[in-house]
Formats: sequence, C-alpha cells, structure tokens
Amino acid sequence: MKIGIGNDHTSVDMKWEIVAYLESLGYEVVNYGTDSRESCDYPVYGKKVACAVTGGEVERGILICGTGVGISLAANKVKGIRAAVCSEPYTARLSKEHNDTNILAFGSRVVGTELAKMIVSAWLDAEFEGGRHKRRVDMIMAIEAEKE
Ligand code: RB5
Repeated sequence: MKIGIGNDHTSVDMKWEIVAYLESLGYEVVNYGTDSRESCDYPVYGKKVACAVTGGEVERGILICGTGVGISLAANKVKGIRAAVCSEPYTARLSKEHNDTNILAFGSRVVGTELAKMIVSAWLDAEFEGGRHKRRVDMIMAIEAEKE
C-alpha cells in the first residue's frame, strides 16, 4: 500500500520516525513535506496529502502537526476526505472500521513517537466494516454533496 505523509514545521522529526516505521513494515511512503523546521502553514500540507488521496496517487494519508487538529481540518475541506485526529490506537482503529477514514492525523506535541507508531499500526491494520457503518458514512458524504 502507498501512503502519503505530510506535516508542518512542528513535526519534521516525528514524520521521519514514522516514515522509517512505515517502510520497516513494507509500506511505500510518499513525502509531501514540509522537511523544514521554519514556521509554515499547515493547511498547505493538509491539502497536498488530501489531494494525493482523492487523486489516487496514494491510498491513505497521514498528517502530523502540533495537535493534529489544524492539518486535519484543512484536509477535511477536500471533497472525499474523512480525516480523524487520533491520540490513541483504539480511536484510530475504530475510525477506520466504522468511519472509513482515509487520513489519520495526530499531534507531535500530544503523543510521543512510540505511541504514534501504535496509533499508525492500529489504523493501518484495520478495515472498514461496511454494513450499518456504510449507511452512516454515506450520510456524511451526502452532507458534503449538499454544499454544492
Ligand atoms: C503551530 O504552532 C500549530 O498551531 C500547529 O502545528 C497545529 O497544532 C495547529 O493545529
């Protein structure tokens, strides 16, 4: 599976740790930046990864900023994206099984690297359960379609 990853200046070191972890698990990773520790604007990177997911360049995305909130909010503005901020593995797993998230976000100022790896692993190992959950996800996407 190909995974896109993006982050702001707060999360460069954690990003590289997560990239190495993903590669050690056999995933192909596409890095959408930033690789600089100079202050930058997280919406740029949230949008880049979100568009890579909806455009089919990558199957899933991972976003990291200080809290995971801003970068996930930006990603969720891209049509077709369901991004969730997860600070522990249980929510990460359920966000895939029940909500079919296509982007996982977390905060480098909130979780440590080892917990972040557990969050990533729980999310990647999970599969969407469909059924009643599909009806609810379809309802979410219908709200998005109403905006047009
Ligand atoms: C940057 O200082 C910080 O605001 C950003 O990384 C993120 O936490 C925003 O949601």
